This record gives sequence, structure tokens and C-alpha cells, in this order.
Amino acid sequence: MIYPPEIIEEVRSLNDIVEVVAFYVELRARGSNHLGLCPFHREKTPSFSVNADKQIFKCFGCGAGGNVFSFIMQIENFDFLEALKHLAERARYTLPQAKDTKGVKIKAKQKELIIEINKKAARYYYDNLQNETMEATRAAAYLYKRGISQKARKVFGIGTSLDAWDALYKHLIELGYTAADISLSGLSSENKTGGHYDRFRGRMIFPILDIAGKVVGFGGRVLDEQEKTAKYINSPETPLFEKSRQLYGLNIAKKTRMKEIVLVEGYMDVISLYQAGFPNTAGSMGTALTPEHARLLKRVNIESVILLYDSDEAGTKAALRAIPLLLDSGFKVRVAQVHDAKDPDEYILKFGEAKFAALLSGAKSHISFRLGLLAKKYPKYETDEKGPYSQEAAELLATLTSEIETDIYMKELASQTGISPHRLDAEINKAREGKGSKTVYIGNKIRLAERNKQGIQSAYNELLQLLFANNGANRALIKSGALSPDIIENEFYKALLEIAFEGAKSGYSLMPADIISRFDTLDEQKMAADVFNRTIIYESDATVEKALNDMMYRIRDDWYVRRMEDAKTDEDYDMGKINELLEARQNLKNQKITIEQP
Ligand code: GTP
Ligand code: MN
Repeated sequence: MIYPPEIIEEVRSLNDIVEVVAFYVELRARGSNHLGLCPFHREKTPSFSVNADKQIFKCFGCGAGGNVFSFIMQIENFDFLEALKHLAERARYTLPQAKDTKGVKIKAKQKELIIEINKKAARYYYDNLQNETMEATRAAAYLYKRGISQKARKVFGIGTSLDAWDALYKHLIELGYTAADISLSGLSSENKTGGHYDRFRGRMIFPILDIAGKVVGFGGRVLDEQEKTAKYINSPETPLFEKSRQLYGLNIAKKTRMKEIVLVEGYMDVISLYQAGFPNTAGSMGTALTPEHARLLKRVNIESVILLYDSDEAGTKAALRAIPLLLDSGFKVRVAQVHDAKDPDEYILKFGEAKFAALLSGAKSHISFRLGLLAKKYPKYETDEKGPYSQEAAELLATLTSEIETDIYMKELASQTGISPHRLDAEINKAREGKGSKTVYIGNKIRLAERNKQGIQSAYNELLQLLFANNGANRALIKSGALSPDIIENEFYKALLEIAFEGAKSGYSLMPADIISRFDTLDEQKMAADVFNRTIIYESDATVEKALNDMMYRIRDDWYVRRMEDAKTDEDYDMGKINELLEARQNLKNQKITIEQP
């Protein structure tokens, strides 16, 4: 982080979370909690809660949570620094000139260098294809066979790598880059004997551009289906290139300024759709759609998505998983599927552009799509399977927030199954109630007996909450040496424990919202908010001590169990070591941390 924690904390404390949220969400006070409709997912009954004392928010419907920075990051689609600047401005606070730390500077330099090398490489691959070499001829023949036009080649910057070990490497050296620079980009690596080999050899090259138009990575396809290597390989995953944060072709789709986008799976699908007159297309490169993808779509002002995945089972499953994710982010979602072809690209080649355009314009709403799948799951839905079918269908319709929409589907369902609209209505209402009942548990006490049933994550959560709230317990734990951050494998809990221990030393007690700002990703902020979200009330000092020991026992017991698992799967299986661990684990029961009362 560029700014020190004190400055971040100052900005945070100048922005009361209730006031900030109230600008976007209508809130109603209930004690120190304020309830409203969650802005991050669609709902009818409020499950979004803002706590004025802790200065945090939490949605019990979709799980969103964090402090005022997290809220602004999410609602404005900002990164941490942007949120900090925004809130500083709101509070009329002047941030000091940002001084980048050395680490940040080096990373930024490296990123710039990789982008530069990628750009040169993209140019090189593209030029390869225009030359009159054997490889170019072969690649051009391949593209022709697959129906890719000259124009698409240019727009997508398609190129080819040569059939040599180190052609790109030599080219980049000639341009003045060092071997180390080139390794950094992952486009070429050094082997044990000091030789260099390019990542992409004898493959078609698809450069992958981010929405700012920078070349962040590449995909390379084999020309010969018979070859026994992966059909596609990609640039290695680096902070610059993560498949979960990039959508192929979005840089081109963005330029259309259309509010609707077609999401497909493959590179070739994106290119084919472009040629068929649908430049508003992006590809997830064979990976599952992620919340980061959804955020990217928001950034380019997309409002509605047509999912057009492969026609196989994997494609259907991927669509089913993508639907709730997109709905939760507020997109309208429709689904189209090709038939008698494995993917959209093949469909266009086989049946032509006109037929494809018709297929796309006939995309069904996500509800119709899911109802269709349900009818396939229960082929006898008109007779024997009417009961389970209508119940599942009602559950599906219960997720809709628009009354009119629900009504339309309900009537369709009624005429399809012969079940009276009245009964379906009742089922939908029942399903809705079932969904709403598992909400709010703010302020609940946790019974000690219940603790043991919960997972190790909840042990960490309660331990950390206890440590932050109770300096005596924190100091007792440090003194006992029973748990040190460096044995914790989970990076998030490790960081939190470090913050807690640091706090005990300074004697300065940290509030939940402050601790949340120590993390700059939304995911971590959400996890941190979850730690502080429940208020646990301990009846006496003795219960605090008991709780501390309980949590510690569970965390350390789990640690020993896992070390023993490791030892058992170790190549040099060592019985002595396992016995040692076993004994240490038994000993845990006799260890007790005592909190000294001041
Ligand atoms: P074509 O066979 O060229 O039409 O490929 P496609 O684009 O139809 O690909 P397919 O449906 O097989 O896979 C969808 C996407 O998943 C591809 O575009 C790639 O992004 C990715 N993919 C497929 N196979 C591989 C692979 O072997 N390795 C990697 N890293 N990615 C792959
Ligand atoms: Mn294909």
C-alpha cells in the first residue's frame, strides 16, 4: 500500500459509513444497525446491514461486506487507491503526495517492461505471418481453412510463431532486451544448459489485449490436430495476465459501445462472431466466469449478457454457474445454445451467418433456459413427475424480483403442467419464505457447545475477534508462545494475527473498520468483515479464558492432524516423527493459557 496505515485510518474515520452508504441506499435505523436493500444483489426484503459502532457493513443475502473503503470500491467499481482518493475528497482531506515504496516501483517497472516486450512480440508474430516463409504459408492455409478473413487477422492481430527453438528470443535480443528481461515476460525460458527456448513454437498466435488495449498475454494454437501437445497454450499467469481477470476480445467489443455483450468460450468463437457481424463478443478462454470478469463488464458499461457457450454438458454447466454470478452483479441475462455443432464457430461455418443471427436473437431469458433444463431432468413432468417438477420450477421463479415477470412464467408453467395458477402461486410464496428465513444473526451469543461443531475457519474468526477486543487475552497468547503467525498456512489469518500481535505491543486498540483497511482486495476485506461481524458476548473473565483455550486447542489440534497427514504421505515415511507428533498432540490437552487479570 502506498499510504501508511495512519493516513488511511484518518481518511476512514472522517467518513462515517452510515452517511456514506445512505447516499446510495435508503437505510432504516434499528439500534446501532441500519438496514436497507442490498445494492450488490437484487432483493425485496432488506438483508443489508450497516453497523455504526463497528463502522462496517454486511449483506446476509449475498455475503458482501467490509468497511467504508470496501463499500466504495464495490459500488463505484474503484480499486483501493481510487476509493481512498474519493473518500479523502469527500471529507475535504488533502492526501500527501504519494511516495511509492521501492517494492511498488520495481513491480510497476517490471509490468511496463513486460507490456513493452509483449507488444514487440505481437508485432513479430504478426509480421511472421506476412512473410513468404514455409511457416507463413502453412499458417495462412490454416486460417483460410478456418474461414478467417484478412480483416479479422488485422483486427485481432493474429500471427504465427516459427518452427524454431529460439526465433523470438533472438529477435528480442536483437532489439536490445536482456535474457533476464525476456524470461520475465515468460515468452522464452532458459534451460539447464543455458540454452533458450521460446514458449510458442510452430503455433498460431492470438494476442490477448486488456480493455486499455495493452498486450497482456498470448494464446497459441497448434496447427496440426494430430500433434500430441496441448491444443492451446497461454502466456504464464502473472499479475499482468490472469485468465480470471481478462476476457478475450473485450477491447474490441468495448469500441462498439453496445450495452449488450455475447459471452463465448473460445478464441475462435470470438473471431467467428466478429466476422458474422457481432463485434460485441468476448471469450472467457475456457475458464469459468469470475466476479472479476463481471466487474470488467461493468467497467465497459455492459448492462445485459447473452451466454453462448458450447453445446456440450460442460458448456451447459458453465452457463448455469455464470447465471447467478451475473444476476447478482445486476446484469440482464439471456442464454442461447447452438445445436448440431460443437460451438458457435462451427455453427457459423456450417449453417451460415443468417441462421446464426436468428439463433442469437432467439436467445431465451435465463429463466426459460433453466425451466427447459428442468423439463429435460423430469421428462415425465406432465404426468408422474409433476410434483417435483413444479416444486423446483416454483423455487426457480421465487428467485425473480419482478412480480410481472414471475406472473408471466407462472402462467406459462401452469398451462404447461395443468397445475392451477393458484397452487403454483402458493408454492412460489412458500419457496420465497424458505429463502428469507436464514438471515440475521447479529448479536447472537454463541454457545460453547456449538463451537466444536463449527469449522476451523470459525475458530480463527472467533480467536481473532477475541484478541482484538481483549488486550489481556492477546498479551496472554503472545506470552504463552502457543501460536505464532509463521506456522499459519492461510495467508489471510497469518496477516490478521500479525496485526493483532502488533496491536498488543503498541497498546493501541484497533477497531474493526481500521483492521479491514489493512487489506486492499475486496475479497480479503470481506473476510475481515466476517471476522468482526458477529458480536460475541462473554459472561465473565472465566468465559473469555475458556474461549481462548478452546479456540487455541482447535487450531493447534488441526495443525498437528495436518502435520501427521503430511508425514504419512512423505516419501521417506518416518514413524518416529509421526509418534512425536502424536505425543505432542496428546499433550495439547494439558496446556492452558492463563489470562492475568490487571
Ligand atoms: P478450436 O478448436 O480452435 O475451435 O478451439 P476453440 O476456441 O473452440 O476451443 P475449445 O472450445 O476447445 O476451448 C475453449 C477455449 O478454452 C479455447 O479457446 C482456449 O482459450 C481454452 N483452451 C482449450 N484447450 C486448451 C488447452 O489445451 N490449454 C489451455 N491453456 N487452454 C485451452
Ligand atoms: Mn471451436
